[in-house]
Order: sequence, then structure tokens, then C-alpha cells
Amino acid sequence: MALTFNDNPDAANIIELKGIRQTYDNGKVHILENLNLLIEDKAMQGQFAVILGMSGCGKSTLLRYIAGLQKPTAGEVLVKGKEVSGDNRVSMVFQQYSSLPWMTVLDNVGLGLRFKGVSKTERDEKSMEMIQLVGLDGHEKKYAQYPNLSGGQLQRVAIARSLMSNPEILLMDEPFGALDIKTRLQMQDLLIGIWEKFSPTILFVTHDIQEAVYLGDDIYIMKHAPSSFVKHIKVDLPFNRTRQTKRLKRFDELVHLVEDSMMQIDSED
Ligand SMILES: Nc1ncnc2c1ncn2[C@@H]1O[C@H](COP(=O)(O)OP(=O)(O)O)[C@@H](O)[C@H]1O
Ligand SMILES: [Mg+2]
Repeated sequence: MALTFNDNPDAANIIELKGIRQTYDNGKVHILENLNLLIEDKAMQGQFAVILGMSGCGKSTLLRYIAGLQKPTAGEVLVKGKEVSGDNRVSMVFQQYSSLPWMTVLDNVGLGLRFKGVSKTERDEKSMEMIQLVGLDGHEKKYAQYPNLSGGQLQRVAIARSLMSNPEILLMDEPFGALDIKTRLQMQDLLIGIWEKFSPTILFVTHDIQEAVYLGDDIYIMKHAPSSFVKHIKVDLPFNRTRQTKRLKRFDELVHLVEDSMMQIDSED
């Protein structure tokens, strides 16, 4: 393991949401109520947490809190024991291709370093490392736009860019939702490789139960209107996930458990 992003063995819990309430329109729209989430710090090791929940229940909102892009109406959002601030190394990957289409792959990946004033030579060198890591070498001079690059390749660009800031926390909002199934499976394995290499703590939103079980160590299911987490499922599969993991009996059992939990939550509404 060459580099670990979570390099402080004494860190406080990496993400903590306490008593979150989110309303809009002077309380007339009530999205979240008494939502709590604790993602503990494991020394020298990131965590992979997956969030499942119906559209509109507030999943993206949670990620925006942790990224420091939005504050809740009430409650606390802590990263490593402190209120969210610009000092945290947090990156976000969205479902929509978020690259700038008038720039090359290389320039997109190095964008963050450019804002920091890093010289072109240095940022191109570091960008190329990440481009190779996500399997895009040979494409670095292409414009980051469809159909120049496929959907999967554009998401690789977004992932490469998100890794450039050595994130301790990687927020991924349905990142593979728009991809065809084979590309999606390849991207899942790419992400597992990245997670094993760098150990960021990943908070991953998906609607795909198989994907949730395959990638996650912990699955959190949200109910909706107003939403909180209602179920936490620990994924007790072997630590090193490979496609063989999906052949295990326990894998299927977990998929059924998650599915049943989601259906039960719906019927309680
Ligand atoms: N500014 C706003 N005013 C009113 N409602 C909003 C506003 N921003 C978001 N919402 C609502 O908050 C809810 C949660 O949104 P979001 O976090 O995007 O859900 P998810 O990602 O789970 O689909 C949605 O129903 C959305 O319509
Ligand atoms: Mg969303």
C-alpha cells in the first residue's frame, strides 16, 4: 500500500451527523427529521458506507452537508470531530458528467491543482499518474465530452479528478447510475481497487442493491418524508471483494435482506 489518505491513527470519528432537520419554505416542506449517522474512524483504514433510499428522500442533501455546500436547518455535521470547514479533504463525484467539455482530459484532471497555482509541468505529471490509475492513458489529449469519450470514460475522468486532492472522504452520488451494465461492473471493480490502494472513507449513494452489497461494508437505508436512517446493515462478506464474492451464498442472502428491509420501510409509511 503506497499511500493512505487517512493517515492519522488518532482521528476522531470521520463523519458524524447529529439530530439533523431539514425544512424549506418556512417549515412547510419537511425533508429530514432527527437524522443521525455515525461513520467511525478505523485507524489507517477508510470505510465504505452505502446509502439507499427512495428518490427525493434527501441522500444528495446529506452529501452536500458533508462537502460543506449546504447547512441543515438544525443539527450538527461533524467531520473528524469538527464542524465542516474548507480544510477537510473531501471530494465529490456526481452521476452527471461534471467535466468541462472544452478542456482536455489532462486539464480536467489537473483543474484543482491549477486553482492552487501549481505549475503546468507538475500538475500534468500528477494528473497523468491518476489518468493511468483509472485506465485512461492514451486519452489524455481528448476533449472531455461525449461522444469523444464514452460515459464510462467520462466517469473515469471525474474519479481521477476527485482523487487529485488526496481526499480523506470521497462522496459519490449515484456515480454509475447512467452507465450500461458491463461498464458499471467494470467501474465497481475500479473503485474497489482505488479504495484498497488509497483507503479513503467513501460515502456512496446508489439505487442498486447488488452494487450496495458488493461495494459496501455498511449499508444505511433511509425512509422518506420526513426522512431519517431506519436501518443499518453490516455487510459481513470477506474484506477483499472480487466478482467471486457475488457467487457466495451470503451475498444473495444480504441482497434479499436489504430488499426486504426496503420493502418493509415502504409499507410502514
Ligand atoms: N431549495 C429547496 N426547496 C424546497 N425543496 C427542496 C430544495 N432543495 C431540495 N429540496 C427537496 O429536498 C428533497 C431531497 O432532495 P435530495 O437530497 O436531492 O434527494 P435524493 O438525493 O434522495 O433524491 C427533494 O424532495 C427536493 O425536492
Ligand atoms: Mg440525489
